[in-house]
Amino acid sequence: MTIVTQPEEISALREIGEIVAGTIQTMADAAKPGMSTVQLDEIGAEYMQQHGAKSAPKLVYDFPGATCLSVNAGTVHGVPNDRPLQPGDLLTIDVTAEQHGFIADAAITIQLPPETEAGQRLIGAAWSALQKALSVARAGTPVNAVGRVVDREVRRHGFTVIPQLTGHGVGRTIHEDPTVPNFYHRRYNQLLTDGMVVAIEPIISAGNGRIITEKDGWTISTADGALSAHFEHTVIITPEKPIIITRQRRKL
Ligand code: CO
Repeated sequence: MTIVTQPEEISALREIGEIVAGTIQTMADAAKPGMSTVQLDEIGAEYMQQHGAKSAPKLVYDFPGATCLSVNAGTVHGVPNDRPLQPGDLLTIDVTAEQHGFIADAAITIQLPPETEAGQRLIGAAWSALQKALSVARAGTPVNAVGRVVDREVRRHGFTVIPQLTGHGVGRTIHEDPTVPNFYHRRYNQLLTDGMVVAIEPIISAGNGRIITEKDGWTISTADGALSAHFEHTVIITPEKPIIITRQRRKL
């Protein structure tokens, strides 16, 4: 668990958060049908390097890519590959980066043109669930109360959370305590506290919510092939609204 209290720790986290947001924005702007996720990953790797940051999945887990790029049924930990992106693909860009010992983690799902109603509804539900989660995440709130609002919002849109994939503490490494579930269970009763650094990330599916690991050993996909969407921010918990350190200038 990472708790930040000193102004210099908070500004170091803000700095890496800004780099993560900038990496995602640059990649989202560059993503086009016909391009492979390996090519897109190279753009992200170059942005991080130019800004003095390192890919954290590579650093911590020896992940075979600089960023996690998951397409359509791909849910999380998508390994960049040579397949060209197709018109209408849902693409999740998940970036975790390190600088000066601090780590921030964020993700967005976009749809390559042409947009479809099914794709936009799913993306909208995941985005909206993250906004609900951010609105209740404050010191003194149990993590399962965050999960409850996420689950409720996702169901309200007619979709389902993927229960095995959760938010998490972050800050000094990628996955720290506490687990921040996307559903309510009484077991997850840990309280958020002032200065705690957490990644909040609704990860949802248009299908039954079950997942499988692909042959590459990393990429997690929906078992039924249904589309998946995912939005994530790293935040610092306060007694009031959280400080969102990975906020982008455009809708996220
Ligand atoms: Co995460």
